[in-house]
Amino acid sequence: MSEPLPPLYLAPMAEFTSPPMRVLCEQYGAQRTYTEMVNAEGICRNSAKTLFLLETFPEERHVWAHLYGHDPARLAEAAQIVAAMGRFEGIDLNAGCPVPRITSQGAGSALLKDLPRLEAIVSAVVNAVKLPVSVKTRLGPNPQVPVWREVLQRMEAAGATSVTLHARYTSQGHAGTVHLDTLKAAVEATSLPIFGNGSVVDRATAEAMAATGVKAILIARAALETPAVFQFERGNAHALTEDHLALELRYREKAQAFSRLSPEEATVLTFRRHIFRYFKGLPGANSLRGNLMNLHTLDDIRHAIAAIPGA
Ligand SMILES: Cc1cc2nc3c(=O)[nH]c(=O)nc-3n(C[C@H](O)[C@H](O)[C@H](O)COP(=O)(O)O)c2cc1C
Repeated sequence: MSEPLPPLYLAPMAEFTSPPMRVLCEQYGAQRTYTEMVNAEGICRNSAKTLFLLETFPEERHVWAHLYGHDPARLAEAAQIVAAMGRFEGIDLNAGCPVPRITSQGAGSALLKDLPRLEAIVSAVVNAVKLPVSVKTRLGPNPQVPVWREVLQRMEAAGATSVTLHARYTSQGHAGTVHLDTLKAAVEATSLPIFGNGSVVDRATAEAMAATGVKAILIARAALETPAVFQFERGNAHALTEDHLALELRYREKAQAFSRLSPEEATVLTFRRHIFRYFKGLPGANSLRGNLMNLHTLDDIRHAIAAIPGA
């Protein structure tokens, strides 16, 4: 008998979890999605590029805005602007991103080294909006500083409605052991719902994470290989690609005010950057990958993938 699984969500991924990706993942069973990481400062400054990251498609049902920043007051202001858009189910705050461009601003995983500030941020956002406010973070900066227990106490005190734990330390980046034992201890240490994340790629890894007692599981990288991972299936690469290209064109048409690229050019770049991964492992996929730079139009793409046998 397989374990009953908690809901599966699409994890936030900068430059990837835009409306096309989110719509596809919802179609394949993701019960919640998150926007790309959006800079609270850019929202407050009314930057068109930043606000574009908060675009949604009308068919999206369960999307949360995923914000980052360092200043509680600015995050609260940004959260109010986002809440007023009326299209997000909740607001998720980033306290786990290890990228230096983000941590050098005191944001992302830098907040794990300044827990009073993290608490002040969450508290300010909770007080500023009626939407539920969650936090996505890690176990601590490194295994010698496992601050997760204090984080959970502070998040509960600040009024967060749930915490997602990527069950790794910042020092691990996106690789190495996923600490399921610590995740289980975290679930048991708090009354807050804990969501788990880290290297879930199939039913077996989802069941292993579910056994910790988490209330939901977030999947990131495996969804880039196929949104059908939410059904633990491979999906049909040709159909996925057609659907994704059509959604991407629609999305890029909205970017015309500030983009130097035509919708078709931008869509082709997205294919080259990640949609091509849907063919990974199929016969002909390696030559597709080697040929990406020669694909300039949607017709080029259709022609190239027609040469790959159906999945
Ligand atoms: C390309 C990429 C972009 C990411 N961007 C974000 C982000 O903006 N915010 C965030 O909290 N995590 C981000 N992550 C981390 C993922 O949400 C997730 O925590 C991590 O990849 C582990 O999950 P996985 O093993 O299912 O990929 C990103 C990961 C990748 C690979």
